[in-house]
Amino acid sequence: MSLRLGDVAPNFSATTTEGPIDFHKWLGNSWGVLFSHPADFTPVCTTELGAVARIKAELDKRNVKAIAISVDPLDSHQEWIKDINETQVCTMNFPIIADENRQVASAYDMIHPNADDKATVRSVFIIGPDKKIKLTLTYPASTGRNFAEILRVIDSLQLTAKHKVATPANWRKGEECIVSPAVSDGDAQKLFPKGVRKVKQYLRYTPQPNP
Ligand code: BEZ
Repeated sequence: MSLRLGDVAPNFSATTTEGPIDFHKWLGNSWGVLFSHPADFTPVCTTELGAVARIKAELDKRNVKAIAISVDPLDSHQEWIKDINETQVCTMNFPIIADENRQVASAYDMIHPNADDKATVRSVFIIGPDKKIKLTLTYPASTGRNFAEILRVIDSLQLTAKHKVATPANWRKGEECIVSPAVSDGDAQKLFPKGVRKVKQYLRYTPQPNP
């Protein structure tokens, strides 16, 4: 069965380009982004890995560790990294799992046989410090992912984990948030001293609470 939001992210031991890991121990108290690739030496994947390497500082700021996975072997990953660094003007700075026996791909349901019976689709799992799955995304092999969107979701997840707010469509860090419908008007005044803008009883905005 596929994994759902709120499920514990399955733990696993794996070989990676940065050495062997126990996934949960490797995550420690960090947030995690686990994302899969159809295969090594493929053009879209190459750009994606470069894109994530270039946002490492943004991930670090948010206490997020990135880890990629593909079902090709470690020596293939090591060779591919040379190409990624060369073509994407980056230095790879996070591990790629070598999942030759598809142990991780199976546990995370990353192979969708009606799309491709061997290669993984482009899955993304955002995992909280409690090891629970906070977001899943599935893209087809032909569409590279938008990692600015992944950062935006992480900002929302981290904010809403701390404050009784939700974030509206296309929200970006620093913009107005929505007061959680479960909060009464009276409590909202106390919880959100920057003010509450009431449009409807169910639609109340507040400036972003301090992170
Ligand atoms: C790619 O990463 O470029 C790719 C991989 C599989 C199918 C199509 C594109």
